[in-house]
Amino acid sequence: MSKQIVRPGRTISGSLEVPGDKSISHRYAMLASLAEGPTEITHFSAAADCRSTLDCFSRLGVKFDLQGDRVCIEGAGISGLRKPRRTLDAQNSGTTMRMLSGILAGQEFRSTLDGDASLRRRPMRRVMDPLSKMGARIEAREGGFAPLKIEGTRLNSINFTLPVPSAQVKSAVLLAGMYADGVTSVTEPVRTRDHTELALAEFGARIEHEGRTIQIHGRPQLKGRKLRVPGDLSSAAFFLAAAVVLPESTVSIHKVGLNPTRSAVLDVLGSMGAQISVVSIRSEHGELIGDLSVRYESLKGGTIEGDAIAQLIDELPAIAVLGPYTEQGIEIRNAAELRVKESDRISVLAENLRRMGAQVDELPDGLRVAGRSAGQLHGAEIEPHGDHRMAMAFAIAALGAKGDTTIREAECAAVSYPDFFPTLERMVER
Ligand code: S3P
Repeated sequence: MSKQIVRPGRTISGSLEVPGDKSISHRYAMLASLAEGPTEITHFSAAADCRSTLDCFSRLGVKFDLQGDRVCIEGAGISGLRKPRRTLDAQNSGTTMRMLSGILAGQEFRSTLDGDASLRRRPMRRVMDPLSKMGARIEAREGGFAPLKIEGTRLNSINFTLPVPSAQVKSAVLLAGMYADGVTSVTEPVRTRDHTELALAEFGARIEHEGRTIQIHGRPQLKGRKLRVPGDLSSAAFFLAAAVVLPESTVSIHKVGLNPTRSAVLDVLGSMGAQISVVSIRSEHGELIGDLSVRYESLKGGTIEGDAIAQLIDELPAIAVLGPYTEQGIEIRNAAELRVKESDRISVLAENLRRMGAQVDELPDGLRVAGRSAGQLHGAEIEPHGDHRMAMAFAIAALGAKGDTTIREAECAAVSYPDFFPTLERMVER
């Protein structure tokens, strides 16, 4: 297990491109595997999670060639997957497990999906319920946990209302809907990331929206194609956060995904006083992309709650650690979902912020982190509990602290951003 020492910084400056968006990379890899003909994807995410998706499809008989951030996938067609000889291992990736369940539900073979210790603790009933309604038989460990044994079949279409806002569950049902006759619809209580809908349309599926209901027509023919993945805004968020921790910072991030269902982090930081500008906005394969730049500005802080939570769920760790650097502190509410991510992010944030000397109230559905007046953070030994976003968030908190911070098991950052620490080192001036 590697430790990473993060020394305090004076300022951060320069420009960068972050790895390809993890959510979009998963979706392009999955649909490419089910398409007719070859697909070439560039700026494919370097995340270990996306590699897990490729490896699962390889066990399902799909051939791919990955060179750096370019992957070529030989599509098998929507009915061309083969029964895997071994368990499909999603490792740490909830997106792989939940979305792939939707595809496996429609196959005429039995398969088993498993993951690492963290993924085995995450709730799977939320995908098992709708997929069972569609006709699949899914067995899980007591309580609805992986490994999942999925006996696929010819599915029935359903009209499903999501009980929790979750893009992964929505996507699992839409993907299963490809294997059902007729039209399958999903209604969401709050809009969540719509990359699956955009990618399905891009690959040629018939998909329609009406308010918060999305409909997919069954048995589409997907066509292989050339795609480029935008930079991951969730990874970029750590550099936006670094720039508001260290005075006189200016950071530019090029070709970042700005899909409106993902960009609430920009509004929230902006409303707290951050100076963020967005230029060269364009659309690629239905996804908005653009260049961001951020200049240091002292933040006021504030409360984040309600519908916004679902649209910045992955950025909340980066925002929470800014609490001690703001005037009034930061309060996060209605975010109990954070407890069932790669770690219990509410408790891991509270534990490690306290180790650095912050004043934190842990709440059932969020946390309250006191502002600047509560004193300066000091370096500490951070325990990320194997969670990539915790390791990266505390590297940012450490930049403005007094003294060095040690991040245990820092290699877990590779789950979404393998070069995070060297990139941060390159940009921080001391
Ligand atoms: C994701 C959806 C979100 C998010 C996760 C990626 C996706 O999870 O937290 O990191 O790619 O669809 P939920 O669907 O559980 O909210």
